[in-house]
Amino acid sequence: MQTLLLKGNQIDEAGAILRKGGLVAIPTETVYGLAANALDGSTVAKIFEAKGRPQDNPLIVHIADISEIDNLVAYVPPVLYDLADAFWPGPLTIILDKSDLVPDEVTAGLDTVAIRMPSHPVARKIIRAAGVPLAAPSANASGKPSPTTAAHVIKDMDGKIDAIVDGGPCEVGVESTVITLAARKPRLLRPGRITPEEIEEVIGDELIIDDAVLGRLKEGEKAASPGMKYKHYSPSADVVIVKGTLENFAKFVNERAGEDAAALVFDGEEDKIKCKTKNFGEENDDLAHAAKLFDALRACDDEGVGTLYVRCPGDEGVGLAVMNRLLRAADFHIEEV
Ligand code: TXA
Ligand code: MG
Repeated sequence: MQTLLLKGNQIDEAGAILRKGGLVAIPTETVYGLAANALDGSTVAKIFEAKGRPQDNPLIVHIADISEIDNLVAYVPPVLYDLADAFWPGPLTIILDKSDLVPDEVTAGLDTVAIRMPSHPVARKIIRAAGVPLAAPSANASGKPSPTTAAHVIKDMDGKIDAIVDGGPCEVGVESTVITLAARKPRLLRPGRITPEEIEEVIGDELIIDDAVLGRLKEGEKAASPGMKYKHYSPSADVVIVKGTLENFAKFVNERAGEDAAALVFDGEEDKIKCKTKNFGEENDDLAHAAKLFDALRACDDEGVGTLYVRCPGDEGVGLAVMNRLLRAADFHIEEV
């Protein structure tokens, strides 16, 4: 298949392909998504094929207007409108009981559906041009770090989908915060740009943090969010998170680093490290860590890095999302030095 490269202003072209049952990669404020008509099960099935995605991992449905939600869910809890007022359009995904209109292909057979209203202007225009809600997972090959530029998408998806819309680099850089309102208590399933503290302030209730956010699922344990159980965000390199002072980090890395090693460090630390370095912003800048993480992991793949040593960032605020992705990339390998 020839994959068409579209610019961010070619909205009508993207909308037409989606209406005809095609797959289009679109920019969002978090990461690029691989979109298809969410109301057409056989079209949605093609997303799983293009990504090599496990069949039991459900997709997020993207809307442009709050009115679209009524058709997609069985019941709208009042707190949904408070959350929508505070965070939509934006990087928050909310899981609710689904309506019969949502095909099983979208929800992987679950009776709940994940809904998000993205804020990226190109994404919003494309949803409106398609005239239907769009099911869209991240536009990476399954298991690879999510794409934050059109070049990342081309690398994984060229020849497998109908079109890629280039909207420039994604601002947030990690996927949306996912919460469920379909459980007895609101629960955080995946951390993102919208933090648990911000959500608790709006819902006036505790947001339970699912064990899988910073922990590893135990053998045979059922995942509240199926995506949590896969070794995700995973570059080809072995990733090792090294927790400790810069001095101890440098000593640890410099003693071990072979020819094909690299280190992911904070701004200004490069000259302490003897191997190749990548940088993910200033030490206390959680937004920069989020924005730069996936590009750094992907660059390591492109350069054939064998082992990547990562300076351990803080896990407060958006840092919780960064640590959640890093722990999976490292398969939970942390060294304390
Ligand atoms: O920022 C984002 O959310 C991006 C952009 C494209 O919108 N999308 C994204 O989609 O990250 P994906 O498919 O890579 O991640 C969706 C996550 C998965 O972990 C999936 O298991 C979970 O949401 N999910 C989707 N529907 C669910 C449901 N009904 N119940 C529980 N988890 C669900
Ligand atoms: Mg994904």
